Amino acid sequence: MIRSGSLALVIGAILISPVSAASDLVARGDYLVNGILTCGNCHTPKGPSGEITDKAFSGGASWDEPPFKVTASNITQDKETGIGNYTDAQLRQLLRKGIKRNGAPVAMIMPSGFYEIMTERDLDAVIAYLRTIKPIKNAVPDPIYRMVQRHPVPPGGDSAYTEAMLGDKVQQGFYLTTIAHCMECHTPMGPQGREFATRLGAGGGKFPGPWGVSVSRNISSSKTNGIGGWTDDEIKRAITQGVSKDGSKLNPPMGFHYYATVSAADLDAIVAYLRTVPPKE
Ligand code: HEC
Ligand code: HEC
Repeated sequence: MIRSGSLALVIGAILISPVSAASDLVARGDYLVNGILTCGNCHTPKGPSGEITDKAFSGGASWDEPPFKVTASNITQDKETGIGNYTDAQLRQLLRKGIKRNGAPVAMIMPSGFYEIMTERDLDAVIAYLRTIKPIKNAVPDPIYRMVQRHPVPPGGDSAYTEAMLGDKVQQGFYLTTIAHCMECHTPMGPQGREFATRLGAGGGKFPGPWGVSVSRNISSSKTNGIGGWTDDEIKRAITQGVSKDGSKLNPPMGFHYYATVSAADLDAIVAYLRTVPPKE
């Protein structure tokens, strides 16, 4: 009895492990896509009362700016109007390098340059999760490109991180704030693009929407103009609940409700990294 019982356990373990490895990957992708990566903040349609969750990922916000007029794609598994025909290799190329299946560079509002840093495992996880999104038929308008789309990569984000690098808390925080593209919004735009080298985290980006125009704030470690004088809890509350230090409510487009799902350890790492961002006045 004992022998056959333990044999069953061994067989069970052999049978279960590949399946649970795959479901672990999907769970990790779900955590990333519906959390720190805020993919739905752009790709899910919004109605008067917020995101239309039963149409999640079926095509979202539009932008009409000097470089492009684009709508965030349908990224459900629909073959005709979504990304069901992308192979995994094509998705990797799109996410990391910003090259679409048809070979065209994606509009630079899609933050692919911030995903170059993504670990192999996290990239696999995101793709595994995207494969589980139910197909929804919804054709979005074709993009109009008014200039060649660049693929800006933030400093320090130009190659894939390894799992070992994530063992260091500040590096882990840098990784997370990069894939969350925090600094894309929080760094002012200069004539050559975002001024990451000189004005990282200084704020000043303008975001028009139904809420009016919100201006991204200084999140450098400056004690006077940034968040250097805030407690860890105040910083976490701003990120996950959209409440500033003085208790006032913050406006979109920052995806507070996505960040609300970020784990305590990941939030700690983000705060640890933000404390190292040199002060900007
Ligand atoms: C800031 C807004 C924004 C965020 C955040 C964003 N995207 Fe996009 N994405 C876009 C836009 C806009 C396009 C369409 C650009 C174009 O047509 O050139 C796009 C295009 C794509 C495409 C190409 C589909 C096609 O039409 O060929 C895929 C796949 C994609 N995004 C997946 C994702 C995933 C996965 C995430 C999260 C990791 C994400 N996006 C985050 C705005 C965003
Ligand atoms: C899509 C653009 C965008 C992204 C991405 C973004 N933010 Fe923001 N953030 C803003 C804007 C705009 C505001 C100001 C909103 C307002 O004034 O109502 C803001 C406000 C804040 C505040 C409050 C500052 C204050 O003085 O009240 C903090 C802290 C912050 N962001 C940190 C982050 C971090 C950390 C990330 C990444 C995890 C991030 N943001 C991602 C646009 C963004």
